[in-house]
Amino acid sequence: MDRQRGSVLWFTGLSGAGKTTTARQVATALMDAGRRVEMLDGDDLRETICKGLGFSREERIENIKRIVYVAKLLSRNGVDVLVSAITPYREMRDYARSHLPTFVEIYVQCPLGECERRDVKGLYAKARRGELAHFTGISDPFEEPEHPDITICTSGFTIQRNCETVLSWLQGQSQLMNAAP
Ligand code: ADX
Repeated sequence: MDRQRGSVLWFTGLSGAGKTTTARQVATALMDAGRRVEMLDGDDLRETICKGLGFSREERIENIKRIVYVAKLLSRNGVDVLVSAITPYREMRDYARSHLPTFVEIYVQCPLGECERRDVKGLYAKARRGELAHFTGISDPFEEPEHPDITICTSGFTIQRNCETVLSWLQGQSQLMNAAP
């Protein structure tokens, strides 16, 4: 039985930065390579196991704790887990790192102005009109990752290129591990 741990690839960044889109592409590549993969997406989880949680600091922390819990169960059974959630506070990312032995922090960087221009869900406009409280980047902080394992930039590079950046980083890590005595 394969007891090897899966990786937890944690995509953090502003709403609309491209976390989910990038994670999907990486997930497809990993599945094609024969890995078992699950995606944990902030928007989906807030409809299910995180339903009812809002966006205060305490509720966001609770949201992330639940995601970490599920990611831990999956990864210890050999599943690669791709999490896409804003995860705006350093404290949360530190929590995830300390609870997940194979945690990889991936900063999906995109200037606020570009996320706002995209405004896929119309939420930035709402937040600017004052109709959404505590909106990340507008009326709630996003604490930039200080030491992410990987940084990708979605305003300057294609999804394909960013996906390759993640995959080659992972490949480099597995070579390092295979080289270990
Ligand atoms: S987190 O801060 O707790 O990590 P999460 O990734 O689960 O956030 O959820 C963020 C998603 O919720 C956004 O992509 C957006 O669709 C939606 N959302 C609704 N209200 C807010 C808000 N006040 N701040 C950020 N995102 C919000």
